Amino acid sequence: MNNLDLQKLLDEMTLEEKIDQLLQLAPAFFEGANSAGQITGPLEGLDLAVENVRRTGSVLGVGGAEEAIHIQEAYLRHNRLNIPLLMMADVVHGYRTIFPVPLAMGSSWDVELVRQAAAIAAKEAAVAGIHVTFSPMADLTRDPRWGRVMESTGEDPWLNGQFARAFVRGYQGEGIANEPYKIAACIKHFAAYGAAEGGRDYNTVDMSEWMRREFYMPSYRAALEEGCEMVMTSFNTVDGIPATGNRRLMRELLRKEWGFDGVLISDWGAVKEMIAHGVAEDEKECALKAIEAGVDIEMMSSCYPHHLQELIASGAVDVQLVNEAVMRILQLKHKLGLFENPHRYADSVAEREILLNEQHLAAAHEAALKSSVLLKNERNVLPLAKDAKVALIGPFATSDDLLGPWSCMGKREEAVTLAAGMLGVADPNTVTAIGCGVEHIPDEELAAMVEAANSAEVVVLALGEDSEMSGEAGCRANIQLPDRQLELVKRVRALGKPLVAVLFNGRPLDLHGVLDEADAVLEAWYPGTRGGAAIAELLYGEANPSGRLTMSFPHSVGQVSVYYNAFNTGRPKDDPNAQVRYVSQYLDIPNEPMLPFGYGLSYSSFRYGEAALSSPLIRAEEKLLLTVTVTNVGERAGSETVQLYVRDIAGETVRPMRELKAFRKIMLEAGETKEIEFEINEPMLRYHHADLSYKSDPGKFEAMVGPNSKEVQALSFELV
Ligand code: IFM
Repeated sequence: MNNLDLQKLLDEMTLEEKIDQLLQLAPAFFEGANSAGQITGPLEGLDLAVENVRRTGSVLGVGGAEEAIHIQEAYLRHNRLNIPLLMMADVVHGYRTIFPVPLAMGSSWDVELVRQAAAIAAKEAAVAGIHVTFSPMADLTRDPRWGRVMESTGEDPWLNGQFARAFVRGYQGEGIANEPYKIAACIKHFAAYGAAEGGRDYNTVDMSEWMRREFYMPSYRAALEEGCEMVMTSFNTVDGIPATGNRRLMRELLRKEWGFDGVLISDWGAVKEMIAHGVAEDEKECALKAIEAGVDIEMMSSCYPHHLQELIASGAVDVQLVNEAVMRILQLKHKLGLFENPHRYADSVAEREILLNEQHLAAAHEAALKSSVLLKNERNVLPLAKDAKVALIGPFATSDDLLGPWSCMGKREEAVTLAAGMLGVADPNTVTAIGCGVEHIPDEELAAMVEAANSAEVVVLALGEDSEMSGEAGCRANIQLPDRQLELVKRVRALGKPLVAVLFNGRPLDLHGVLDEADAVLEAWYPGTRGGAAIAELLYGEANPSGRLTMSFPHSVGQVSVYYNAFNTGRPKDDPNAQVRYVSQYLDIPNEPMLPFGYGLSYSSFRYGEAALSSPLIRAEEKLLLTVTVTNVGERAGSETVQLYVRDIAGETVRPMRELKAFRKIMLEAGETKEIEFEINEPMLRYHHADLSYKSDPGKFEAMVGPNSKEVQALSFELV
C-alpha cells in the first residue's frame, strides 16, 4: 500500500465508517476479548450500536497475543474494507518485565539505560500484539502531591527532554517500519498536565504562555523531534480551555508551528468531559470542539459517533476535518504494516520465549540498581556486613507491591521481595523478616517488629507507600509516610541500634521522622520485577548506589512547589544586604528543599578539583570549555554524576538561579582521577523572551559545576 492506495481506501469509506475509525474503545466491547483492560474512567453510557463497535478504529488495553489475535480476527470478519484495528496500551515502564517507575529511571541519569528498557518493553509488547504505547509521559513535575509524578522523569525541562527522546528511540528504534519488534510511541499529556493546581489530579492548570514554553513544552517537543508518532491531549485546561478542545494549542502550536502530522488522541473520556468543564453544553458541542481542535481519536466517549454526522450535515463541521483525521490513522496503520499483517508480531509462542526472559530480567535488575538513590549514610552503616544479624521489618519487608502504578501486564507475584533478595545475598540464618500493613499496623504487630529489632545487630526498616497511593488519581495532601510507620521508626530508634530505612514509593516525600532518625536511607522507589534482589545487592555492598534525584524532596508539604530552577525574586533571602524580615522566606522552615535536585550519595567519596574555563568570553559560533577534575577518594569503585548548570545574570525576562545544561556520568576506580570537559555554546544560553522569541542576550553568565544543584563551584563568563 502507498499513499495513493490509502486515498483510494478513504474514498471508498462511508461517512459512518470514517467517523467510527476515530473511536477508541476498551477490549470489553469486542468479540474475542477476555480481559477488561485497565479501567481509568467511565466505561458505561457510551450507548453504541454493534455496528459502531464493528467499525471502531482502535482498542486500548488488550491483554496478550491470544486475545489480540482473537479480537482482530473477529473484527476483520465484519469489517467491510478489511481495515485492521490498531491496538494500544499503557506500556509505561515495561510490559511484563517491569522496570522501575519512570521517576526512578530518571534518577539513573542514564539515557541509554532508559532507551534499552523501552526497547525491551517494546519487544514484549509487540509479541503480545500491542502496536502503540501511551508513553512516554513528558510532563514536567514540581508538585509531589500529584500522584503521577512517579510517571514523569522530574522537574528539569532539558533532562526530561533527554529521557523522552530515549523512550521514543527505545520504542520506535530507527522507525516502526524499519526495525522488528518496534511499537509507536505516544507522548503525553499535551500540555502541562504536571501543573495541576494543588497537585490534585485533573485539576485546573493556569500559567503564562511564557512559563509554558520555557519550562513545560521543551520535553514534548524533544520527543516529537525524535519522531514520536502520536500525541495524547491532557485532561487539564490550557488558557481556560480544556486541552482536548483547545484549537490554539493543537492546531496552531502543535500542528502548524511544530509541524506535527501524526495522530492526536484524547485521554480517556476527555472529549465528553468538556461538559463537566463547563465549555460545552452537550456531547454535540464536545464533538464540534474536539474535531475543530484536531483530535483524531476519541478515547472512551462517544461524542464523535453520535454527533459528527449531523454536524457535517448541518455544515457546522467540514467533512475535510474528518477525512484528514481518518487519513492520519490509516497512515499510522500502514506504517505499522497492519494492512499486510494485521496481527503484526502477536504470537503466543514467541510470548512464552520473550516475556520475562533472562536478558530482560537482567536489564530490569540493572535498572533497579542504577535508579536507587542513597540519601544518607552516617557512620558508614551501609553496606551491611553479610554476617550481621539483621531484623528486616516494616510494610515492604516481605511485600511484593514493588512494581508500582502502570505496571501493565507485570505480575506482583513475579517480583522479588526485599526479604527474598536479602536471603539470596546474605547468610539466610542472619535475616529475620517481618512484614505488616502500610497504613494500619496493629499494636501486637508493631510490638513483634520492635522485639525482632531488639534481638538484631542492625535494623532494616522497609517503609513506603502502597502503589495505590500514587499514580493516576493517587494524589495526597500529606506527603509524609503514614503515622504508624513513623511510630515504628521512633520505637525502633529508641533501641539505639544501627538503623537503615529503605523507601518504596512513587513521589518525593516529606521525610521528617525518617531522614533525621535513621542512620542510612536508601530511596528504592518502586523498583520493578527485580526490585528486592537489586536493593539487597546495594544494601550488602555488592553494588554501589549511584542514583541522583531528579525532583527535589521538600522540607514540608507547605513548601511545595519547591524546585531547583527557581527565580531569585527581588528580595532573595541570601542577599548580603538582606533585611532580617522583609525578604522572600518562610518564618518556620528554610527556603531550600530537604534534598535538592541532582542529590545522591555513594559508598565512594568524590573530590572535585578547581574548575576552570577556557576563556572568560564567548562569542556566538564559538564554544567555551569548562574543565574540572574529579577524584574518587573512597575505597571502592563508584559512579559520579558531574552536573553543569548555567545562570544568566541579567536577562530580558527573569532567569532561573541555575539551569542544568549537561552532565557526565563517570565510573572511577578507588583513587582514580578523571578530567571532565563540558562545552558551553551560545545555543545553550537561549531562552524565551517576553515576545516568546527564543534567543540569547549578550551579557554576564555563571557556569556552575558540582555533584548536585546545591554544592557547586561557580565561574563567570560573558557572552559578547
Ligand atoms: O494513557 C492513559 C493516560 O495517561 C491516563 N488516562 C488513561 C489513559 C489510557 O489508559
